[in-house]
Amino acid sequence: MEQLRAELRRHEHLYYVLDRPEISDAAYDGLMRRLQELEREHPEIPVPADSPTLRVGGAPREGFVKVRHSAPMLSLDNALDEGELADFDRRVRELLAGEEYLYAAELKLDGLSMAAHYEYGVLKQALTRGDGTVGEEVTENARTLRTLPLRVTKPRWPRFEVRGEVIMSKPAFDKLNTERARQELSPYANPRNSAAGSLRVLDPSITASRQLEYHAYFLLVDGRPALESHWASLEELKRMGFKVNPAARRLAGIEELAAYCREWGEKRDDLPYEIDGVVAKVDSVAQQERLGWTAKAPRWAIAFKFTARQAETVLENIDVQVGRTGVLTPVARLSPVVVSGVTVTNATLHNEDYIRELDLYAGDTVVVERSGDVIPRVVRVARPGPRAERFSMPETCPVCGAPVLRAEGEAASRCVNSSCPARLKESILHYSARSVMDIDGVGDKLVDQLVDLGLVKSIADLYELKAEQLAALERMGEKSAATIVANIAVTRERPLARVIAGLGIPFVGERTAQFLAEGLASMDALIQAEEAQLQLVEEVGPKIAQSIRRFFAESHNRELVERLRQAGLQFVSGGPARAKAGPLLGMTFVLTGTLPTLARDEAKAKIEAAGGKVTGSVSKKTSVVVAGEEAGSKLDKARELGIPVWDESELLKRITE
Ligand code: IVH
Repeated sequence: MEQLRAELRRHEHLYYVLDRPEISDAAYDGLMRRLQELEREHPEIPVPADSPTLRVGGAPREGFVKVRHSAPMLSLDNALDEGELADFDRRVRELLAGEEYLYAAELKLDGLSMAAHYEYGVLKQALTRGDGTVGEEVTENARTLRTLPLRVTKPRWPRFEVRGEVIMSKPAFDKLNTERARQELSPYANPRNSAAGSLRVLDPSITASRQLEYHAYFLLVDGRPALESHWASLEELKRMGFKVNPAARRLAGIEELAAYCREWGEKRDDLPYEIDGVVAKVDSVAQQERLGWTAKAPRWAIAFKFTARQAETVLENIDVQVGRTGVLTPVARLSPVVVSGVTVTNATLHNEDYIRELDLYAGDTVVVERSGDVIPRVVRVARPGPRAERFSMPETCPVCGAPVLRAEGEAASRCVNSSCPARLKESILHYSARSVMDIDGVGDKLVDQLVDLGLVKSIADLYELKAEQLAALERMGEKSAATIVANIAVTRERPLARVIAGLGIPFVGERTAQFLAEGLASMDALIQAEEAQLQLVEEVGPKIAQSIRRFFAESHNRELVERLRQAGLQFVSGGPARAKAGPLLGMTFVLTGTLPTLARDEAKAKIEAAGGKVTGSVSKKTSVVVAGEEAGSKLDKARELGIPVWDESELLKRITE
């Protein structure tokens, strides 16, 4: 078995990393099947964590565990043209005061970044970027990435971390979307979204089927660069068996760097995967340290973004959508057109004035642009169409029929009905969004059903949903219903800043919410603060202050906040990690043995989110012992003391009750 594993590893490296296979796919599959057979026939011999058979994906899990990164995974500042690139170079030169320096230039792969932690050469843990500080643990899924070694050759450090990009190639993306269309599933918008969607799934066998690639670009020890230069790190990564993007170059000076950017701007369509620019990093780590970081990004690196891609297409119609603040947004319905590898059918038209300015009519041929990675925009009319009917904002809401008002001096028209179902749906989606309360599983389809069936009339109703109610909905099994209820329950743990952002106060985004939570420290202070006091908070000016006051002046908003308080959400900043409400409130748990689906830290997180506490040893104070396979002395002790013992399914049932 070990011989087969070594053989398979060698062929994987030849095939996926070096692009130089020595045997046919069928021969490789044959070796893999033989190893699978042997592992199955000999359950008494443990399967090591780096066995190639694990590449096909282990058992699904219940949810993702959040893990703090060794050092933040920050992003990069952008240079949008050669002028800005030259500005970056000038800053570097000035800060390095005359020293010589080199750049390591790489392609900016359009995927998602992931950190992989190795111990004694073996892949131990993989984390997505998450919010940059805390990522989601996706180890089982990461094991299925063919260019991510499960074990490395002769590691130089007992522990090290690799950071890089998970991408999906254009052919794999096309294949996946063709398959999804066949199954009448909605297609993924672009390879990046589909790479993200394929890595963040609970079932690793899905990740395995998606042919994702991993390209490594950082080598860290204890959160700091492992070697003296970026280039040396890339070399070491290659030696250990990682895939390092072959286009990486070491360059001297801005001319060479600009030429590299130009070259790849022209050649990007020849690559089998999407890139959206070039990343340049000052090569020497000592110099990187001297240059340092701003709050958001390193001063020693820059992302040169390629210019926007444009295409012409016909504007078939202008529809109107209602957002969570009631704002009506005109949306361009376009004849499908491919813009830099993505099929575009919709684009926002912002508001009535934007349409007037561009002098847009349905039937016109228009120029559509995708700038960087953002939503497509209609930039101008290429050729006018027949121009029969001019667009005007409807006078009544297209969803609920209530009057539409456009306040003086504002570009936006709003539906006046605060309980308009379209507004409610959008508010719930906003509240559940990844960057806000991050409720996995609450998407368009579910929200439509929840609102249409009257199960949810306010965000606060989410906390009263029962698994049975959800299980009765279309396309929902009991297990996923329970998972969603649990996912909602854990949001009781989210910090005050996210709760504030979740309220959907106009002009209060995540960043402002963060400042408000830091500055005022509690929801009550926010509710009571006068405009002048609000303006003492960083980045809050008269407009935001007024918007906050108006929001809390409305009784239904105050009611919502009170109900969220009762639901047990965090209303003070830096509050305790444990939930202050929930079905397990006041109970003390001890975990023992291996649970069938939950890892220990997952079980702990779930118990805490439901208000319970987890301790290490059984005593008279223990309320319940949760026992799995091979539970030992703790279980005996529980029996001795007459403490109730639950299994995992009992625990999950109680949490969702
Ligand atoms: S370096 C602090 N190198 O672009 C250093 N990033 O805005 C940050 N990316 O989040 C990352 N290719 O997802 C780096 N060769 C490359 C990259 C790359 C793609 C992504 C990465 C990051 C974002 C930076």
